[in-house]
Amino acid sequence: MNLYIGLDLGTSGLKGLLVDAKGNILKESSAVYPVSYPKDGWSEQEPTDWLLAAKSVLKALSEGAEEEIKGISIGGQMHGLVILDENDEVIRPAILWNDGRTQKQTDYLNEVVGRQKLSALTANVAFAGFTAPKILWVKENEPENFAKIRKLMLPKDYLAYQLTGVFSTDYSDASGMLLLDVQHKCWSKEMCEICSVQEEWLPALYESYEATGKVKAEYCLPNAVVTAGAGDNAAAAVGTGTVKNCSCNISLGTSGTVFISGDSFSVDEKNALHAFAHANGKWHLMGCILSAASANKWWLEDILNTDDYAGAVEGAPLGESSVYFLPYLMGERSPHNDVNARGAFIGMRANTTRQEMSLAVLEGVAFALRDCVEVAKANGIEVKKTAVCGGGAKSKTWKKIIANVLNAEVVSLETEQGPSFGAAILAMVGTGEYACVEQACDAIVKEKSSVLPEESLTEKYEKKYRIFQKLYPALKQVFAEM
Ligand code: XUL
Repeated sequence: MNLYIGLDLGTSGLKGLLVDAKGNILKESSAVYPVSYPKDGWSEQEPTDWLLAAKSVLKALSEGAEEEIKGISIGGQMHGLVILDENDEVIRPAILWNDGRTQKQTDYLNEVVGRQKLSALTANVAFAGFTAPKILWVKENEPENFAKIRKLMLPKDYLAYQLTGVFSTDYSDASGMLLLDVQHKCWSKEMCEICSVQEEWLPALYESYEATGKVKAEYCLPNAVVTAGAGDNAAAAVGTGTVKNCSCNISLGTSGTVFISGDSFSVDEKNALHAFAHANGKWHLMGCILSAASANKWWLEDILNTDDYAGAVEGAPLGESSVYFLPYLMGERSPHNDVNARGAFIGMRANTTRQEMSLAVLEGVAFALRDCVEVAKANGIEVKKTAVCGGGAKSKTWKKIIANVLNAEVVSLETEQGPSFGAAILAMVGTGEYACVEQACDAIVKEKSSVLPEESLTEKYEKKYRIFQKLYPALKQVFAEM
């Protein structure tokens, strides 16, 4: 039997699936690693922790089926900066996608180099989490580390490099570096110059579904070919079948994303959404909020000391409460692009309950996603139906809230692990099991259930959203002063 492994190199851990060619999941395995926050707003991980996790997950998944594994692919947290020296040693911990230390460098790129120029060169403007501002930060703040750089890569590409010895990346993930000319799918020489990056430091570019190399002998998977893989959001979109023009996927992971697939290249007028390559060879627009399921985890586990996620909001009347939550615990990316933004509860009274506040967290994340959907709408894209995946997609209440806040049908798939399932699909395409990503998705991805909006609830949430929309502008200056 031909078997495939899809890995998801996430922020809270690495998850892996072993699947057959029909997409049946035969085994699951995962391993966790820590995130360190060395200073306020900083966020780092050790690439060697990812490698240890990948080794243990691969071993658990492949035991007894080593010869049958034909393909492996990785979907990974995007934008992280991994730098290697001349001996291929990691120079410093990876600076992650939700790290907010680069305000100065982001401002330099947007204001001095200029948004218009950045957009012309890369189809995007600078956001603090993107890779290019991080490179400038290392150059300015750690010149001794910058001087050692010989290779510069994204998180999943570090893992693939260790597995195969092939230094590669794919267009979807490379799009988030702000070094790629997304429309023409090549490194932008001018952006490399602006960021003092030598092109030979950068990996070779592939489509996500293209094979890049074989797994090294030490992993004892003699027939496994690795395909280039994708940024976790593009991989999740493949895993939820979000590959047709204007189809949408919402991911409720550590981050929350609204991912809109497009057959042709397009950029939103104000660059509030990311204009990136898709893993099916086409493109997408994406809004990314930095705290989604992670905001709920923070509230329930760290603050309330409970892991009863369902119980926290069980039976709560939806759309009734006047408590609001701003989920900007790590600052915010889309659409505000503000590293100073902070989390906030607003509107409590003496009789406000713990349940209302728990519900406000779910609603606040849904409203922040709606902010991204509104930008898409202003660009002529209607989201009437969306898939949903990620840890947060397990919550029925959250899906109902999202359906009503967005006034859209929210569809759950048989497999909720979007990125790892999508990576497994990419591995199948890369080894010729399917002719293209669309064909594989048609054959494999199955809808399980859907939640439809209800008029009475959409009306209530429309009113709440109008108020939510006023909160960030009202607090923006105060956040900056904090
Ligand atoms: C997308 C983004 C996040 C990470 C999470 O632009 O930064 O969704 O990819 O892993």
